[in-house]
Amino acid sequence: MTRRLLVTAALPYANGPIHIGHLVEYLQTDIWVRFQKLRGNRCLYICADDTHGTAIMIRARGEGRSEIELIEETSEAHQRDFAGFGIEFDHYGSTNSEENRTLCHQIWQSLRDANLVVQRSVEQLYDPEAETFLADRFVRGTCPKCGTPDQAGDNCNCGHTYSPTELIDPVSTLSGATPVIKEAEHLFVELEKLHDFLSEWVSNSGALQPETANYLKGHFLAEELRDWDISRPAPYFGFEIPDAPGNYWYVWFDAPIGYIASTQQWCNANGEDLADWWKSDDCEVHHFIGKDITYFHTLFWPGMLKTAGFSLPTKVHIHGFLNVNGKKMSKSDGTFVKAETFLKHIDPSALRYFYATKLSSRVEDLDLGVEEFVEKVNSDLVGKVVNLASRVGKFASRTGLAPSYPDDGGLFQAAAAKGDEIAAAYEEGEFSKAMRLIMELADAANPFVEHAKPWEMNKDPERQDELRDVCTVALNLFRQLAVYLAPVLPELANKCGDLLGEPITSWEQSQTPLVDRGVNKFQRMMDRVKTEDLEAMMEESKDEAAQETDAAATNPFNDSDQPLKDEPLADEITIDDFMKVDLRVARVLSAEHVPEANKLLKLTLGLGGDETRQVFAGIKAAYDPEKLVGRLVVMVANLKPRKMRFGLSEGMVTAAGPGGEEVFVLGIDDGALPGQRVH
Ligand code: MSP
Ligand code: ZN
Repeated sequence: MTRRLLVTAALPYANGPIHIGHLVEYLQTDIWVRFQKLRGNRCLYICADDTHGTAIMIRARGEGRSEIELIEETSEAHQRDFAGFGIEFDHYGSTNSEENRTLCHQIWQSLRDANLVVQRSVEQLYDPEAETFLADRFVRGTCPKCGTPDQAGDNCNCGHTYSPTELIDPVSTLSGATPVIKEAEHLFVELEKLHDFLSEWVSNSGALQPETANYLKGHFLAEELRDWDISRPAPYFGFEIPDAPGNYWYVWFDAPIGYIASTQQWCNANGEDLADWWKSDDCEVHHFIGKDITYFHTLFWPGMLKTAGFSLPTKVHIHGFLNVNGKKMSKSDGTFVKAETFLKHIDPSALRYFYATKLSSRVEDLDLGVEEFVEKVNSDLVGKVVNLASRVGKFASRTGLAPSYPDDGGLFQAAAAKGDEIAAAYEEGEFSKAMRLIMELADAANPFVEHAKPWEMNKDPERQDELRDVCTVALNLFRQLAVYLAPVLPELANKCGDLLGEPITSWEQSQTPLVDRGVNKFQRMMDRVKTEDLEAMMEESKDEAAQETDAAATNPFNDSDQPLKDEPLADEITIDDFMKVDLRVARVLSAEHVPEANKLLKLTLGLGGDETRQVFAGIKAAYDPEKLVGRLVVMVANLKPRKMRFGLSEGMVTAAGPGGEEVFVLGIDDGALPGQRVH
């Protein structure tokens, strides 16, 4: 029976590039989806960028551009990286979409209707310079327990955990300013009201791996579930909460809803009904995620789905984290490898296969050891699988395949009979087992070619029929492996399809040999990976990280280089040149609109005593006249007066910025007096 499956991988944050750690997940999911499709099931692979939150807002600010520009650029880069690894989504969306906003409103209303939302005031650290509330990770300070300086916002190296408001001498990592404690109203979801439902779902739905269910029962469900703080006060890059203006949904509210919104976009483009995928008992919903985001997907998310009447996950497939050479990925070791960097050095199929040999259905970390990687890929794929084809490929293009399948001592049949066991391993996420079973078949197939010695037959005109038989067996055994490996190695499956003139599209193709047909020109299937290439890749990753650190050292606030590019520095002048310009501190005594001029404000500037100047300044779009009155500005006081349509302009107010709303009038620190010269 054909199943219908909606499959998601976690939505990657839009504030950084895809790295080989992420790829554990996106490749694992891609393999599973390709397997389902090969089996003839109707399956959608849905993903999107996770675009909201403080980190993205701060980064965009630092780079001097809008969040929209940043997330669009990142989305393109992410999709390019994924495509480079053969990861094929049915739809790749963004959480910053109108579809997502609409669904957030809908689900929010359901939570309100179910009486699950309460309001409470919260004390939080606020950065007065960056003008934003600070998430724990943006605060550092001295541990209140042991006194070690420069510790994280919520825990110290000594093991003590605390609230950032307890830190001694806290510092905002955004601006270096000392944060202040500010009170703000937040909205909470009372998860405890769903406790019974969640306990039941965790224990009995079968959606969770046993270790995950036990972890949740032991850590969360054993006690009262804490209310979930779901709102953030402005400024925040996200969706404003309709019934709480000035407040935004915390990114983890709208992120998982992005799964549904991205499906909605796919439905819109394909004339399908969202309800068939998210509200139907005939459709399975599968989430693939890493262990770090278990809580969100196994407690909060099912709670939301249940309340809003969407399907609950059929299964949440949780994987562990990637280590490289037995250690956490590290920038300074060069093991924090970006997807893009990997692709410059190594065939992506190698990583697809290597991860497949490492993945099981358990929540376990996996290790990419360089030696093991090289050894596995070369000996399994190049040495065993591709070898079957390359030993006979050239001859086969001449002989074609025999009219009927020759006696192979039962090899093809035996391998066909293994199909169900291999499929079951894929289905359960036991990819390492599937790979082991497939390699056993390759081990059994290779001796056949070895003993037959087709290269000797090739030299003997009398033995051409024999040669054709050997080619037929070898290529069919190869093709069988290519079908079994197709979810992992789509490229190899394509090349096999090209060689034999029949694309690989179905698992069933592993069950019947191909006969009586020509064989196309043999092309190289896969190259050996080289240790030097991996070393070069890590060297480059190290350099990239070092460059980032250098940039961070000379430019700790991550300021953009765009302004200087837009207007390069002017020619050198002498101090005498400069002194010709008489810059003075002045106070804005009055400011008013000039009805006939759409860019200008008319300012009266006081230079102390009763010295005043009238100045027309092009700052109307950026400044409200009332707010200027009383401020100190810096004016060019000896500029030749200029007659304008509206009156005489007797100087100039200094300001920076490209114009329009982006104009910033120069101020001066407290204590300066009107009339003082600036030099
Ligand atoms: N944006 C959230 C997910 C929202 S889902 C509604 C997020 N993004 S992430 O970019 O940090 O991570 C995306 C996925 O990649 C997560 O499932 C995470 O567990 C996984 N991985 C990130 N680094 C990883 C490793 N080093 N190893 C294995 N998986 C890793 O979390
Ligand atoms: Zn401490």
